[in-house]
Amino acid sequence: MTLKNNISLKPFNTFGIDVNASKFVSIDSLQNLKDILNTNPVDLLTLGGGSNMLLTKDVEALVLQINLKGISVISSFKNSVHVEVAAGENWHELVCWCLNKDFGGLENLSLIPGNVGTAPIQNIGAYGVELKDSFISCEAIHIHTKELRTFTKEECNFGYRNSIFKQELKGQYIITSVVFELSRYDHSLKTNYGAIEAELQNSAIETPTIQDVSKAVIAIRNSKLPDPKIIGNSGSFFKNPVISYSKFEVLQNQFPQIQHYKVSVDAIKIPAGWLIDTAGFKGKTFGNFGVHSKQALVLVNYGGASGKDILNLSQQIQKAVKYIFDIDLETEVNIL
Ligand code: EPU
Repeated sequence: MTLKNNISLKPFNTFGIDVNASKFVSIDSLQNLKDILNTNPVDLLTLGGGSNMLLTKDVEALVLQINLKGISVISSFKNSVHVEVAAGENWHELVCWCLNKDFGGLENLSLIPGNVGTAPIQNIGAYGVELKDSFISCEAIHIHTKELRTFTKEECNFGYRNSIFKQELKGQYIITSVVFELSRYDHSLKTNYGAIEAELQNSAIETPTIQDVSKAVIAIRNSKLPDPKIIGNSGSFFKNPVISYSKFEVLQNQFPQIQHYKVSVDAIKIPAGWLIDTAGFKGKTFGNFGVHSKQALVLVNYGGASGKDILNLSQQIQKAVKYIFDIDLETEVNIL
């Protein structure tokens, strides 16, 4: 473990924003993590894969890059296994590991950027599946008491892109490992998300395997989401807003083509991508940053943009959506 001074965080955030970190440490063992926390740093920034943050200024806090590694089967049952994964493992590499072993449950979450340890914080989700569906527990260390604690699924209080680590316990714990329950045989596939079924039909696959579902998800994602290794981005920049049924009726009168999903009797989810697209932002570029041309929910850095540029654009979008639809868009990405 070496402390580095004044390094660029550009390689450590998928938006590719070039800001300076005055103190940076890469953590590759639990002991290292405890040692560094024992120095009682006043201000900390924990980095996983850097895939859900927009850095708008230089970072004075001590940056901890969690690089803990290891994947192991800790229990086997008749039709399932429990797999423990260290926080610093790359998410998609974990999905590939599972597919190689023929363990089912994470295939719909293929190609999501980021690391395993940050996945529970926002309960990552895609194509009808969320992390919580396979989650058993996670272990986390309290940054002040340095106590290791196991959190059960109930204790994590998962919601749509939400958990206790984003709410009551925000900034208090660092997740060190996660345990998943995965199926061994009789995988229960979730292909009812429209685009997956269509993709499988296109490839003439009638009885899909978990590997086929993963391939379909990868094809769909590649067709509309930019690869952060090529174009800087953080996936969905905003959450999909939920509005009341009465408000939805008013909007539907005004915009008959409005996309929507029923959440409950009085709650309707509207795709933020549709709102931003309809507000005219899709594909708009402003020099070296803009709104992705195939998915309006994704803001992109073509190279050299600052976090402030992207933040300003996101605020312009929020203003326009508020003005046109009277809907408040909440960011999914953490702004730092
Ligand atoms: N739409 C448009 N224009 C756009 C984009 C979307 O009109 O530019 C409309 C389309 O009609 C589409 C609907 O919005 O039917 C929904 O779009 P899509 O299916 O692409 O999904 P999403 O709601 O935009 C969510 C997640 C994604 C996840 C996909 C697939 C959120 C905020 N985003 O996007 O997650 O991959 O569903 O399950 O919930 C992420 O979190 O980084 C992420 C990419």
